[in-house]
Amino acid sequence: MPSILITGANQGLGLEFTRQYAADGWTVIACCRTPESADSLAELAADHDTISIEKLDIRDHAAIGALGQKYTNMPLDILLNNAGIIGPIPIAEHIERQHFGKMDYEVWRDVIETNTFAPVKMAETFIDNLAAGEQKKLVNISSQLASITERIIPAIAYSSSKTALNRTMTIIADQLKERGIIVAIFCPGQVKTRMDFGSATVEIEQSISALRPLIAALTLDDTGSFRDHEGRTIAW
Ligand SMILES: NC(=O)c1ccc[n+]([C@@H]2O[C@H](COP(=O)([O-])OP(=O)(O)OC[C@H]3O[C@@H](n4cnc5c(N)ncnc54)[C@H](OP(=O)(O)O)[C@@H]3O)[C@@H](O)[C@H]2O)c1
Repeated sequence: MPSILITGANQGLGLEFTRQYAADGWTVIACCRTPESADSLAELAADHDTISIEKLDIRDHAAIGALGQKYTNMPLDILLNNAGIIGPIPIAEHIERQHFGKMDYEVWRDVIETNTFAPVKMAETFIDNLAAGEQKKLVNISSQLASITERIIPAIAYSSSKTALNRTMTIIADQLKERGIIVAIFCPGQVKTRMDFGSATVEIEQSISALRPLIAALTLDDTGSFRDHEGRTIAW
């Protein structure tokens, strides 16, 4: 059976990815920062012995390294960089801290570390596992808010962290192509998770059910692409 490593697997989109891949019999390494309080994930793992829960705060590079060591030589089909933060939540109450003139630089630093540095560190750490896997897919959950063309919500910290992620992943995509590794970037839609600005229209199950076939259909021709859950290419 294929295998996938998912970050932020304890709630929101990551939990649903875990649920759906496990239901299809995949081996899932489900990472979360506080397994001791990840009740929904624990329940899921109790029903599926193919789920392994791993404690991982993605800002902790030493912990990422240690996890990489633990899984040395294990082929991985997909590395799914899902975990991310939008900044202090509820976002609608804190959005001013991401507006020009009122920028909260601690927030920005935190968001960049989580949304930009961590997925790259994950990719660096697990790249040989992916190269040894059959599907060889490095999948990143980004956001339409990263788009410079489709300027929908002016959240400086969050948007810039995902824009930086996108550009970094396109660079990595070019570099990894010769190893047959596909790098893809997706926006899940405006989904009803705790990141909701109040305008989300997409159910969690709906988003993941739409993303999974797109991920399954990825080929090397798609490497470096940025699409939403409906398969629409998002302008950079
Ligand atoms: N929902 C949307 O409308 C939307 C739209 C575009 C993009 N996205 C992206 O989708 C991804 C998933 O977000 P979501 O909507 O499912 O939001 P969510 O419900 O807030 O889930 C975020 C997940 O990331 C984890 N996480 C955050 N910081 C972490 C860290 N330092 N180490 C490990 N895990 C960490 C969280 O863990 P804890 O429970 O421990 O905090 C949680 O599991 C994110 O990358 C987000 O930017 C979401």
